[in-house]
Amino acid sequence: MIYLDNAATTMHKPQAVIDAVAAAMSTFGNASRGAHEGALTTSRVIYRTRAKLAAFFGCPKSEQVIFTCNATEALNIALTGLFHAGDHVISTELEHNSVLRPLYRIREEQGVSLDFVPADKKGCVDYADFERLIRPETRAIVCTHASNLTGNRLDIGRIGKIAEAHGLLFVVDASQTAGAARIDMEEMKISVLCFTGHKSMMGPQGTGGLCIRGDVPIRSFKVGGSGVQSFLTVQPPEYPTHLEAGTLNGHGIAGLSAAVDFIQSVGRDTIEKKETALMMRFYRGVSEVPGVTVYGDFSTEDRSPIVSLNMWDLDSAMAADELAQTYGIATRAGAHCAPLMHRALGTEEQGAVRFSFNWFNTEEEVDEAVSAVREIAEWARP
Ligand code: ALA
Repeated sequence: MIYLDNAATTMHKPQAVIDAVAAAMSTFGNASRGAHEGALTTSRVIYRTRAKLAAFFGCPKSEQVIFTCNATEALNIALTGLFHAGDHVISTELEHNSVLRPLYRIREEQGVSLDFVPADKKGCVDYADFERLIRPETRAIVCTHASNLTGNRLDIGRIGKIAEAHGLLFVVDASQTAGAARIDMEEMKISVLCFTGHKSMMGPQGTGGLCIRGDVPIRSFKVGGSGVQSFLTVQPPEYPTHLEAGTLNGHGIAGLSAAVDFIQSVGRDTIEKKETALMMRFYRGVSEVPGVTVYGDFSTEDRSPIVSLNMWDLDSAMAADELAQTYGIATRAGAHCAPLMHRALGTEEQGAVRFSFNWFNTEEEVDEAVSAVREIAEWARP
């Protein structure tokens, strides 16, 4: 199978990640819940992984790296725990439901008001809109680093400067970029960075987290066992324990740790360059095919390795099925949990077929995918 659904999850993991999870499965006790070797081993791995991730993302304090089971959980923790009634939050039409639904919920349940920076037909924003939407009660800008549908990246350094200039919190969903794109929380003025481990980090599913820069209090989302301060009736106030109740996914975190090592040994820049080159090769190939409409802004290569398209008026799910069944090519079709983005692109009915690339893909795979698109488009010609 040619796996081009890396924006959903990377299926090919570095061997070191697989080995690290396998080793952890037979050696790990419960971190912070014992003084025996198994428990200590797990605690050490988790401690070291926090430090690695803090350095990787430019988060000044490693104890403010919080582990969650995915970016969605991290976003729920941040968005549910940061705001109060009367607060106003600015987000964008590029967002995935992992941002939108927590925002809609806090609008409903916490009395927070929302505004969304619009996207144009290419999925681009006008950065002046962030400033235009700020009002006295605005507390935060919450946005994705890259659209999971078009691959367009937002300039989070630029948005971070706007947030800082207006004294706003800046929450970033790095689901489609962490591991592959450069992210520096300090330089980009990011207050809370939410990431997942299983996409471009190339780690296991069930891993992810949020990194908190500076003094940003977030209310506990879940409470329970922490292994420390057991006689307190509330969740201990210090990070990371404040936001981590229950046994952590130590096995997954061991894999995530190996994944960070892998990215650093190859070089994040090298990975990004290869993924970009594969994406652009595919983009150039399919752009020439009659009947193919590609979505997103390809005037810059500073984008995530995603190409979403349609062929004539062929339903995107039928196209993805044909790609999988006849050509053995894995893609994702439909709405991609990004309703506002589809509305902006005008693809609510048809959806789109998304091809997404990763370090382990090859030029030959890209060329086969272009040929498959050419043949399907020819067949679907009205
Ligand atoms: N959010 C993931 C995607 O875009 C699952 O496919």
